[in-house]
Amino acid sequence: MAGAEPYPRKILQYMEGFLVSKALFSACELGVFERLQGSQSSASDLALALGCSEDGIERLLNTCVSLELLTARTDPHGADLYSNTEMSSMFLLKSSPRSLCQSIEYSSRTIYLCWHYLSDAVREGRNQYEKAFGVDSRDLFEAMYRSDEEMVKFMHLMNSIWNICGRDVITAFDLSPFRCICDLGGCSGALAKQCVSAFPESTVTIFDLPKVVRTSQQHFVCNQDERICFCEEAEFLKDLHAALKLIVHGCRDPEKSKDSHKASEQSFIPYTNLYDISKIHSEWMM
Ligand SMILES: C[S@@+](CC[C@H](N)C(=O)[O-])C[C@H]1O[C@@H](n2cnc3c(N)ncnc32)[C@H](O)[C@@H]1O
Repeated sequence: MAGAEPYPRKILQYMEGFLVSKALFSACELGVFERLQGSQSSASDLALALGCSEDGIERLLNTCVSLELLTARTDPHGADLYSNTEMSSMFLLKSSPRSLCQSIEYSSRTIYLCWHYLSDAVREGRNQYEKAFGVDSRDLFEAMYRSDEEMVKFMHLMNSIWNICGRDVITAFDLSPFRCICDLGGCSGALAKQCVSAFPESTVTIFDLPKVVRTSQQHFVCNQDERICFCEEAEFLKDLHAALKLIVHGCRDPEKSKDSHKASEQSFIPYTNLYDISKIHSEWMM
């Protein structure tokens, strides 16, 4: 509106965005959505069931209502009863096939802590695992896989994301002419599964670190589909990864890379913001 004082809506949203993430993380961690599965409950009942203060849980529940993660209705005695929304039932319950609970837990316990040091990451140009978790962070994946438990958590994170958007991503490209597809750093095999489902004529070979391959075979691709196989050639991938990173994440020699850069720009145009975030996210923070 002409003459109106500018209102910093976007800045306010950015400034407080982490409050929203934290409310979601806490509601999941405390088991709010699990407890409300198939029933409705008052704040006092939930406080008792989840071992929380009544005031605290009521504030969190009302925040979740405003975020459209819960609904509330007032019963004839004047008590507010809370229940899950359709979206929460689909994505925020551990038992749901489209559950994001593992991703949310990883975001809360790992990524959130690393992002706390974003300014340091920018200053120093490296990941912040050492500050966040006290581990040697020179090799990103050694830091991320600092225990088998952490490695499995990361694999669940990858798995749950591809369960949601893998089919859209894989079918965004016509891979039907290709019969032998290699998934470099294929992790849990979630994308490979989507690939053979969308392109049944294809076979996918997953390359990854030996312990990731073993875990994937044991826990993620156990009903062995003959179209998915594994390769533990970690050393071979070290160089190939570096090469691919230059192509996909932008080559540092603009002259030599004009064509590949142009091609990658074209494929990434609709995802430009996501692409930039993932660059910081994957190289420094995760
Ligand atoms: C960011 S994750 C992506 C996983 C998978 N592409 C997905 O989207 O689900 C990178 C993957 O590269 C693997 N990786 C890292 N260094 C590797 C190496 N030297 N050789 C083989 N795989 C490696 C990791 O174990 C991890 O599974």
